[in-house]
Amino acid sequence: LAVGVAVAGGGHYAASGYPDPFGADEAYRDVIAEQFSSVTHENQLKWEFVRPTRDEFRFEGADAVIEFAEENGQVVRGHTLLWHSQNPRWLTSGEFTDDEMRALLQEHIATVVGRYKGRIVHWDVANEIFDDSGVLRTEENPFLARFGTDIVADALRWAHEADPDAVLYLNDFNVESIGRKSDAYYALAQELLAQGVPLHGFGVQGHLSTQYPFPDDLEDNLRRFTDLGLEVAITELDVRVPVDAEGKPDDVDVDKQVDYYRRAVGACVAVERCTSLTLWGVTDAYSWVPGFFTGEGSALVLDEDFHAKPAFTAVAEAL
Ligand code: XIL
Repeated sequence: LAVGVAVAGGGHYAASGYPDPFGADEAYRDVIAEQFSSVTHENQLKWEFVRPTRDEFRFEGADAVIEFAEENGQVVRGHTLLWHSQNPRWLTSGEFTDDEMRALLQEHIATVVGRYKGRIVHWDVANEIFDDSGVLRTEENPFLARFGTDIVADALRWAHEADPDAVLYLNDFNVESIGRKSDAYYALAQELLAQGVPLHGFGVQGHLSTQYPFPDDLEDNLRRFTDLGLEVAITELDVRVPVDAEGKPDDVDVDKQVDYYRRAVGACVAVERCTSLTLWGVTDAYSWVPGFFTGEGSALVLDEDFHAKPAFTAVAEAL
């Protein structure tokens, strides 16, 4: 089981003008090197960073993380190729024909997956293609809008052509439990596999909150996907808790958080073909949660000063 972390950089850091933590913080780099066997890019491989203009690919940010991983003997998960969010404006508001849109995606996948052939083990090829009701996100995603799930099949084929050894995933949040959204993936996975499309894995992000019940059927859900012949992964685990004005949680929520981490990790460990577990950050100093969820925070296993929280021990023990 690869145990990974998302490496901070770009995204809300870039927007807020903070220095990129990965480049600037030596202690942060040390923790990533020492504690994990896998890394993923929190933002650096997303379209808005790789493809700032139509004519230009920029790989500095992504390359730096991959070179770091290789120096430290870590594997890399690629995130992501086809998504509705963090796309450059030239793509989302450009006036392209269907053929041009298809060609843009094909070029993107061939270029990015091809560049890292043999160096990125897993790819989140398509991310968050269904909404919480299990309906395809045709309004938000410019590719799904035009081509529906056909473009997902094509994206998988193009990624497979560019790197036949890469393990290709569909990935989403709120699919920990069996329900409308994960059922949509289950049905799509069956269809794609029946058509011989190179789909190899299903990723459950695992953005959990102690304000919601723990997804008790997580293990059963993972298992139904492995029963289809896929591998599975928990790809973006964090457990956010309500916090006060100073960003501090109360003891009850800390206990809950420990329990959620233990059970989430335990579910992956219990499923034979759950091959990878990634935490969406390691220190609360660099977490997307406070900026995205009002009144919640403290979601990661190290506090802002890099001290281990009870959740750190829980994860270590559950592995
Ligand atoms: C988040 C990053 O953590 C932020 O830095 C960025 O500003 C927005 O995106 N699901 C995903 C991730 O698949 O790519 C998202 O990452 C979190 C939700």
